[in-house]
Amino acid sequence: MSVTREAWGSTPAGAVDRYTLSNGHGLVVRVLTHGGVVQSIEVPDRDGGTANVALGFDTVQGYLDNPGPYFGAIIGRYGNRIAKGRFSLGGVAVQVPVNDGPNSLHGGTPGFDQRIWAAEVRDGALVLSHVSPDGDQGYPGTLTVTVTYSLTGDNGLRIDYHATTDAPTVVNLTNHSYFNLAGEGSGDVYDHVLRIDADGFTEVDATLIPTGEIAPVDGTPLDFRTPAPIGARIRDNHAQLLRGGGYDHNWVLSGPVGELRDVAHVAEPRTGRTLTVRTTEPGVQFYSGNFLTGAFAGTSGRTYRQGDGFALETQHFPDSPNQPRFPSTELRPGQAYSSTTVYIFGTHS
Ligand code: GLA
Repeated sequence: MSVTREAWGSTPAGAVDRYTLSNGHGLVVRVLTHGGVVQSIEVPDRDGGTANVALGFDTVQGYLDNPGPYFGAIIGRYGNRIAKGRFSLGGVAVQVPVNDGPNSLHGGTPGFDQRIWAAEVRDGALVLSHVSPDGDQGYPGTLTVTVTYSLTGDNGLRIDYHATTDAPTVVNLTNHSYFNLAGEGSGDVYDHVLRIDADGFTEVDATLIPTGEIAPVDGTPLDFRTPAPIGARIRDNHAQLLRGGGYDHNWVLSGPVGELRDVAHVAEPRTGRTLTVRTTEPGVQFYSGNFLTGAFAGTSGRTYRQGDGFALETQHFPDSPNQPRFPSTELRPGQAYSSTTVYIFGTHS
C-alpha cells in the first residue's frame, strides 16, 4: 500500500494536489483535493492488461469547465434532489439552492464537488476533510466532514464518510464516479451486465423527485435482480425511463441497512472486468450517463457521449427531508453520520 502526492494545478479556490494510491496488487487510484475527485482508477483485465475505468479529465481545468457531470466527485451536503430546494427542519423552513429545473441537486453550487479538501495520509489511507460553515448553501449547522479513501487487498476502493454538526441539519454524502469497465473513452456501457439487489425503486415525477411510492421492480425494465445488460431495455417505452432519459433512479436496496453488504455487481464481457458494490446505505442511484452529450473530451482525449459511463451512487433516498416514510437524513449535535461504500474490481473468465 502506498500513497504519494504531487502538485496538480490550481483553481480560484487554491492549489490542487493529486494523490496516487496503489495497493501493490494492480489497483491504482488517483484522487484530487479539488472536490475529492476520484480522477482515475487503473485496474487489470482478464488477460493482464490495464486500463483506467473512471471517466474524468486530465487537467484541473477540465473539471472547472465541466462541473455538470460531477465526475468522480464527493457530493454534499445532500446527494441527489430536494424538491424545490425546500424542506422544514424542526418546524423551521429551510431553502437551499435551486439548480436543477425546479429542484436542488447535489448540495447546490458550489457543492462539496467544487471545494478544495484538506488532505492527510494516515495509516496508508487518504483522509480528506472539510468544514462546511453554518448556512453554507442554506444548510443549517457547521458540518465537519471527513471522507477517507483506502485500497483493500482484494482490489477494493473503500470510501468511509463521517460527519458531525453543531445544529440539527440533513446530510446525504456520496461519490459520483462514472465507470466504464472496458476503459474510459471506449464507447458505451450498454453491454455491461448489471445486477442490483433491490425489489423496489423510488418512483419519480417528471422532475425526478420521488412521488413517495416505492414501486416494485417486478415486470419493469428496472428489474436487475437477475443480471441483465444495461442496454437491453433502456429504450423500452416505460414512463419511468422516459422521465430519466434512461436509468436515473434510486433503487431500494435489500439487506440490513447499516451493514456493509453486497448490493450490486457489474460484468463487462470483452475485458472480463467486474465491479462489486458493497455499502451500508439504504439506496443506490443507478445513472446511465444520460446527460453526456459528446460536448467535451475526457482523460483519454475521446469525447463522452450518452451512455459512455454509468454511476452507482450509494445514498439515502432523494428528497428524504420531505418524505417522512423514507429513512431519515437528519443529523443532530452529538450524533455521528457514518457511511461506507466499497467498489471492488475483479475479473471473470
Ligand atoms: C445524478 C443525477 C442525474 C444527473 C447526474 C449528473 O446522477 O441523478 O440526474 O444530474 O447526477 O449529471
